[in-house]
Amino acid sequence: LRTRVAIVGAGPAGLLLSHLLAASGIESVVIDSRTRDEIESTIRAGILEHGTVRVLDESGASDRVLTSGHRHDGIELRFEGEGHRIDFPSLTGRSVWLYPQHEVLKDLIAARLAGGQDLRFGVTAERIEDAETARPRVVASDADGTSLEIEADFVVGADGSRSIARAAVTGSSTGGYFREYPFAWFGILCEAPPSSEELIYSNSPNGFALISQRSATVQRMYFQCDPGADPHAPSEAELWDALQSRVPGTTLKEGRIFQRDVLRFRSFVAHELRRGRVALIGDAAHTVPPTGAKGMNLAIADVLLLEKALRALLEDGDERAIDAFPEKALRRIWKAQHFSWWMTSMLHVAPDASDFDRRRQVGELRSVVESEAGRTYLAEAYTGWPFED
Ligand code: DHB
Repeated sequence: LRTRVAIVGAGPAGLLLSHLLAASGIESVVIDSRTRDEIESTIRAGILEHGTVRVLDESGASDRVLTSGHRHDGIELRFEGEGHRIDFPSLTGRSVWLYPQHEVLKDLIAARLAGGQDLRFGVTAERIEDAETARPRVVASDADGTSLEIEADFVVGADGSRSIARAAVTGSSTGGYFREYPFAWFGILCEAPPSSEELIYSNSPNGFALISQRSATVQRMYFQCDPGADPHAPSEAELWDALQSRVPGTTLKEGRIFQRDVLRFRSFVAHELRRGRVALIGDAAHTVPPTGAKGMNLAIADVLLLEKALRALLEDGDERAIDAFPEKALRRIWKAQHFSWWMTSMLHVAPDASDFDRRRQVGELRSVVESEAGRTYLAEAYTGWPFED
């Protein structure tokens, strides 16, 4: 099989890249080891930055984000039993949208297939060869074990945190800068009305909780837990106790819990984002802890930079933008790494936190909510720094 751009991974990054390339007349093939149903039903994050929404809408990838998504003009930071609202429009002129990632994926997959594009599910990439030549190749196999080789002008690894493409770029499947955290999130989906109009990020002596939403009848909530926690061990009553005790001063509306998972926490940036004619984007290039909702948004920012660079390279033979891609992408990646680490460390309670640490943390939260500069920094990062050009 021969194409111009071979994209490994049909997540938000791979699919949007393929969609934008098609709009410029550049053909691509997208493969993913998962089935379409798995991709469209896996529960992931829910917050889209202002710029992410604009790209999805303006590129024709999703008009549903504006009709089925919900605009959120702020969040609540809660500590010592009191809520403090961060108002995004008055601080930054921007808002965010609550629109689940799997809905974005449904829209992108529908757009790709409607455009007659080559998108293959159940095809597992094994390795990438000849990265440093003008004809890099993806060696893959389908669900029956039949092998498939895709030869391209450029290969993009958009294959998530367990990327196989990474080895072709960094020389190892794990090569990167990383940090672990001594906690994780216990996530639930429940059948209940929203407990609050906006998301609540809550710090409490028992640890962190995030009260998020999905719709008028389904809510998403998370609380800080041990990384080794078994998602099936706690009873529903124990889960509600855990959540309620982490949002003092608020009463949650409870309902049947129909989904539970434990999300691991990690910060990671690959040592290299490009080698020859292979580049990494999205979680293959970097992972952020979920506090602050940067993951998918950062992937979209990578796509915009890489798409422009690929257009220059493949249409005009101009290598300047692809040469500059890693450095440009890394500027935003490290800002998002910092923001995600900062929100995480400011809101969670480390297992070994001393009394000093706890009091200092409340001082930090107060410094943010009581200062317009503090609230503005948080709001700028949360709603998303402007995309370049
Ligand atoms: C959600 C997840 C996040 O990590 C976050 O910061 C906000 C919302 C969510 O799943 O709704």
